[in-house]
Amino acid sequence: MNLYTLMKNRRSIRHFSDKKFPRKTIELVLNAGLLAPSGADKKPYVYIIIDDPVLKEKIKDRCEEIDKRLFANSEGWFKKWMLEKQISLEKNFLVDAPYLVVVAGETNKPYWLESTWLSIAYIVLAAENEKLATLTYTPGEMDFLHDLIEIPFNFEPVVIIPIGYPSKRASKINKNNKKKIFFNRYDSD
Ligand SMILES: Cc1cc2nc3c(=O)[nH]c(=O)nc-3n(C[C@H](O)[C@H](O)[C@H](O)COP(=O)(O)O)c2cc1C
Repeated sequence: MNLYTLMKNRRSIRHFSDKKFPRKTIELVLNAGLLAPSGADKKPYVYIIIDDPVLKEKIKDRCEEIDKRLFANSEGWFKKWMLEKQISLEKNFLVDAPYLVVVAGETNKPYWLESTWLSIAYIVLAAENEKLATLTYTPGEMDFLHDLIEIPFNFEPVVIIPIGYPSKRASKINKNNKKKIFFNRYDSD
């Protein structure tokens, strides 16, 4: 598929079916992440694929607990936005999607965060190219992953990406198209 069509079609998906897909496809998608530019060519990140149902359940429990606490303490506009977007505090996608990918950045490397997110963008688009849905899920706190999946402390988990097929409940919400592109100077009109 044409790259622009892929970009246009991609949406965050929060409801997944449990339909399986081959492990080599997830490896293909993650190898695309490694093709992204990275500061000083350090590729300062690792990808950890999780398909163990027990681990997935533990991750879901912890994330729900963390996000419920965060939501209770968050500002009104955020609560309203979550409601409008129909984003639930139940994170079933963490058990329904056949694979979760934890991306952790190596914090002592230059441009580690920028490079890590750029590689995430490549992963998300490569998944779309394989007709697979994703969500860049960033729970309020991910430190528990150090213990749970043995991430060394010089790496910081930055995202959990469920990858799989959307369920029938999944909806694609329209984009807001505020003016973002300017020529020569910023123009507030
Ligand atoms: C840095 C970042 C963090 C995000 N964190 C979450 C999250 O924790 N939970 C969630 O449901 N969506 C999360 N998203 C997805 C955004 O809500 C989503 O990209 C945005 O609403 C636009 O929708 P679209 O991806 O369908 O175009 C995140 C996206 C980014 C780029």
